[in-house]
Amino acid sequence: MKTTLTWLGHSAWQLETAGLNVLIDPFFTGNPKASVSAADVKADFILISHGHGDHIGDTVAIAQRTGATCIATFEITEWLRKQGVPRVHPMNTGGARTFPFGNLKFTIAHHTSMLPDGSNGGNPVGFLIRLQDGRKIYHAADTGLFYDMKLIGDEGIDLAILPIGDNFTMGPDDALRAVRLIQPQRVIPTHFGTWDLIAQDARAWAQRVQAETATATTVLQPGESWNF
Ligand code: NI
Ligand code: MN
Repeated sequence: MKTTLTWLGHSAWQLETAGLNVLIDPFFTGNPKASVSAADVKADFILISHGHGDHIGDTVAIAQRTGATCIATFEITEWLRKQGVPRVHPMNTGGARTFPFGNLKFTIAHHTSMLPDGSNGGNPVGFLIRLQDGRKIYHAADTGLFYDMKLIGDEGIDLAILPIGDNFTMGPDDALRAVRLIQPQRVIPTHFGTWDLIAQDARAWAQRVQAETATATTVLQPGESWNF
């Protein structure tokens, strides 16, 4: 089964699988590294990890234009409904559900989650996606390092998408420790380079991962895809 992952800049990703477009954390308006616009991007499902503006981003506008189903914690889906989003599906940490694109489980993430208007966004989450062919993608979203990443790794992760930007999330050193805990087949860094505050040398980080672990690495530029 052909599955394509495209980095849309910052923590935004597009997963094309089973003939569906799944957007993750679609932050384009005001994102200096966005590779698409909210007016053009395709979406059948939108996954939102937490309430911060650089993750919930353009969700409302995209969902209203496309009719995409927004999947997030209950606090966020309730907020989206009040903004006029027509289709939502609430979940919460540890829960899994099978959707037309595959099975989705919410993982813990150590971060915060206030929505843009100050509303409570509940707890932040990461995403464990099992594709229809059984391969697994872990998008950690915004988080610090946590030892339970080992439990996520125990599920057998084919591809991990990890933040390396530091300041708001794990930095390069802790992201390398995360790779050791998760032991994915491959890792791709995200949540760096959007602003000077989270500037990182992703290629240097990838070289460290390759030298010190058995995990393969891919470093993308915004707009580039990985055929999974
Ligand atoms: Ni955040
Ligand atoms: Mn963020």
